[in-house]
Amino acid sequence: MTVSPPPIAERISRLGTETAFAVSAEANEWKSQGHTVYPFHLGDMDLPTPENIVEAAFRALRDGKNGYCPPAGILPLREALSADVGASHGLALGPQNVVIEPGGKPVIGKFILALMNPGDEVLYPSPGYPIYESQIEFHGGVARPYGYVEGAENFELDFEALEAQVSPRTRILIFNNLQNPTGAESSPAELERVAEFALRHDLAVLCDEAYWNIRYSGQSRSLASLPGMAERSVILYTFSKKFAMTGWRLGAAVGPAAIVDVIAKLNVNDESCSNHFIQYGALEGLTGDQSGPREIVRILRERRDACVELLGQIPGISCFTPAATFYLFPNVSGLMARKGYASYDELRRAALEETGVSFCTRLHFGRALPGEKDAYVRFAYSGITVPLIEEGLGKLKAWAEA
Ligand SMILES: Cc1ncc(COP(=O)(O)O)c(C=O)c1O
Repeated sequence: MTVSPPPIAERISRLGTETAFAVSAEANEWKSQGHTVYPFHLGDMDLPTPENIVEAAFRALRDGKNGYCPPAGILPLREALSADVGASHGLALGPQNVVIEPGGKPVIGKFILALMNPGDEVLYPSPGYPIYESQIEFHGGVARPYGYVEGAENFELDFEALEAQVSPRTRILIFNNLQNPTGAESSPAELERVAEFALRHDLAVLCDEAYWNIRYSGQSRSLASLPGMAERSVILYTFSKKFAMTGWRLGAAVGPAAIVDVIAKLNVNDESCSNHFIQYGALEGLTGDQSGPREIVRILRERRDACVELLGQIPGISCFTPAATFYLFPNVSGLMARKGYASYDELRRAALEETGVSFCTRLHFGRALPGEKDAYVRFAYSGITVPLIEEGLGKLKAWAEA
């Protein structure tokens, strides 16, 4: 007798995913057939977590930090993080403003659960981190995308799109400054305009600052620091990138105590608490020797410089030099025309099979906007060394020129 599994709940049909994982699977499959692959598709890091953090986590485990801890996280970490974010953002924050999460990613769904009612509209970036779209729709909201346009030195927010998408039913703005995948970064004037927009429409704001500390020059600026914004904003913080801790799974929501308390209550229901002993590793990361994170940024900067220089030599590709994140979002429309590829997937597949260079395209970062033309791909340099960058992009150049 064959027994069918029980039917899956209707809501699951609204749950999205990260299609970039399919690119990884394809690249791994190609590699397993004996080909060399240059992994520019990975949003993950190949760098080790600084030794003092690893040691602190081991120490905590040996010291008996193996039981549950408070759902909002251990107090010393909440204190240290509120001091760190408070100082960098010019905000008066205390531990009551911080709830520790198993990664930055869970902050997205929990923020939406805490503040969005079914039927509410949510503005979010597309191209952008695909989990926004997924979580908005999964929880019964209406996803309203806005995009970016090419400016003089980097991508800039498309205010026309933002104004066109807002309505009396809009409750939330998701804003990713130091943006994945474009590397876009708001100027002070742009931040002021976004703040004015959020205040005018009385929006709650999720400030996704996952790449806050991954920067090579200048200073990161936060929307949450502008007048009137801290009260309506939650900052997504993560230990993943600055400390090369992607697999440790530790992040935080930083914001008004009333929202933080709701997120802590969701923690009680979801995972009880974030992993106890690794919170001591993160505490060491925030308060201990900073040479590890500095070295991570130094290495990433070398990779960025190599990628920007070499991509710039490839006919049909133009690329900005973002001062933050570990992504480049080159315009490849010239290359597509030159090689005769009409779609992103044709280009991506051909590049992989003919050069081994693997990357994601715009399609992996949310739904395309009406009228949008195929033009952009994402190169991540967080998981590939400079010699491999040189080798891979050398092959891509020869292929483009052929
Ligand atoms: C824009 C953005 N937000 C949030 C995250 C979540 O990161 P994590 O869950 O590793 O902290 C990522 C990860 O790549 C990201 O790119």
